[in-house]
Amino acid sequence: MKPTFTTLQIAFLFLFISFKSFSQTYAENGMVVSDHVIASQVGVDILKKGGNAIDAAVATAFALEVTHPEAGNIGGGGFIVFMKSDGNVTTFDFREKAPLAASPTMFLDENGKIKDNSNHQGLLAVGVPGTVAGLYQAHQKYGKLPWADLVKPAVELAKKGFTMSWGLYNAAVRMTDRDPSEDIMQNYFKGKDGKIVKPGETWKQPALAKTLKEIQKHGRNGFYKGWVAQEIEDYMKANGGIITKADLEKYEAVEREPVKGTFNGYEIYSMPPPSSGGVALIEMMNLMEQANIAKVEFNSTAYVHLVAEAMRRAFADRAEHLGDPDFNPDMPLDRLLSKEFAKKRFETLDMTKASISDPAQFGHPYGGDNTTHFSVVDKDGNAISMTYTLENSYGVKMGSDKLGFIFNNEMGDFNPVPGETTATGQIGSNPNLVAPEKRMLSSMTPTIVAKDGKPYLVIGSPGGRTIINTVFQTVLNVLAYDMRVDRAIEAMKIHHQWLPDRILYERNLLSPDTREALEKMGHTLTPTTNLGVLMGITYDASKKLYTGAADSSSEDGGARGY
Ligand code: GLY
Repeated sequence: MKPTFTTLQIAFLFLFISFKSFSQTYAENGMVVSDHVIASQVGVDILKKGGNAIDAAVATAFALEVTHPEAGNIGGGGFIVFMKSDGNVTTFDFREKAPLAASPTMFLDENGKIKDNSNHQGLLAVGVPGTVAGLYQAHQKYGKLPWADLVKPAVELAKKGFTMSWGLYNAAVRMTDRDPSEDIMQNYFKGKDGKIVKPGETWKQPALAKTLKEIQKHGRNGFYKGWVAQEIEDYMKANGGIITKADLEKYEAVEREPVKGTFNGYEIYSMPPPSSGGVALIEMMNLMEQANIAKVEFNSTAYVHLVAEAMRRAFADRAEHLGDPDFNPDMPLDRLLSKEFAKKRFETLDMTKASISDPAQFGHPYGGDNTTHFSVVDKDGNAISMTYTLENSYGVKMGSDKLGFIFNNEMGDFNPVPGETTATGQIGSNPNLVAPEKRMLSSMTPTIVAKDGKPYLVIGSPGGRTIINTVFQTVLNVLAYDMRVDRAIEAMKIHHQWLPDRILYERNLLSPDTREALEKMGHTLTPTTNLGVLMGITYDASKKLYTGAADSSSEDGGARGY
């Protein structure tokens, strides 16, 4: 007998396939949570073959270049926070650098205004990519399996292809044939028949496969020297860019000490400058400790006010003090990270009314939103929190068809107009002005929270400046509000960044009464659809169990474990 469905069953089925419900994944040995389930599985396969968390992170990162090209990259840069099984924590900084020919006024016209959006559009916006150097350095120092084995899955994925998803297809339609200057995007998602590859069909990337094969064979030299470097220089020269082979050859990733804080007995490790993420996160966690936040009801008026005021202060301090540490040796990191500083900052906070952000001082625009984060843990208790980025979605949307990957537009993360800070959020303070070989200030906040020297929460997110705040609230949700990791990721988030002086909140997740009460206190509120695409793992030491969750706003994301 043929099965028959009632209207209710059909409606239920429709609901089930139309909306991803959020949920957790469990594993005893190891886990990867990333923006694409294929890349997560690539990482887990490496763990099963005896690779450690670094090996899995390298393989996942290359696989994301293929499966999640919006942000997964070899043409951008990023950060790794690595907690070793012995409890020690280190970080790798492979942030892009300004080219040797860059200058503080390179984006300005004769009137001192930004010319043609050139800090975000066109090849002047491209920073010297750091991803391949960073992954290679981390692997050389801490990897177990051969490099070639880790790049191989990405080569195969690009060569043999993988199934186009609806999420990627929708992006492909959006990104193709927009603006002829976005050269690589014109054919990027098209098959041999010249049409965009449809959902369910196989999408192959032969040019990218060739580039990845070169990296597989020659390690970092496969990108920073040889024919790939030559083609990057030729492409730049032919299209108005300034990156040369000398820039590529000089690029080095840097291993740095993490920034460290504590919250109610937990240890928090995160990325130091050139990311502002770790410093701002710890400053805000210290403020929350002062406020005894766990006693404040989640999502209440007092909660939103406290969290927003902490954000306002941390972002003002970020704008005033932070930049590339190699160019700003005197940044007051110890002070910003201290409990005493938080105490003083907390004293300026009035629980009955909003503070005022003074445009004559500091601030920063929201910035780019295409970045991607993944979290990895292995059977020995090593943990990786890695965030890397092209800045905007599909970066600068330019690149050589011969190489098959897209360049970043990370130069937009520098302060573009020296001395000019505006109410709309542009900053002009010195620490983050452009200079040759300088790294632009980032907001990426790859973070590991530890308990008794073992990883307890591994977390991070894309989202430009909103990254700092979505990671902050997720950490708070787990540590102060005892939420399980999927709930912590999905729970209502807000964003305040000093300037513009307003609270962004996730539409439909904050009650009208609370909004009205906040407005009466002097806050301005603006709805937005979504904040953050968080990828998190928690560890329950008593059960010896990892629990992972991917943000439901990630189209193809997911946790995989074994
Ligand atoms: N491009 C985003 C960031 O680094 O903050």
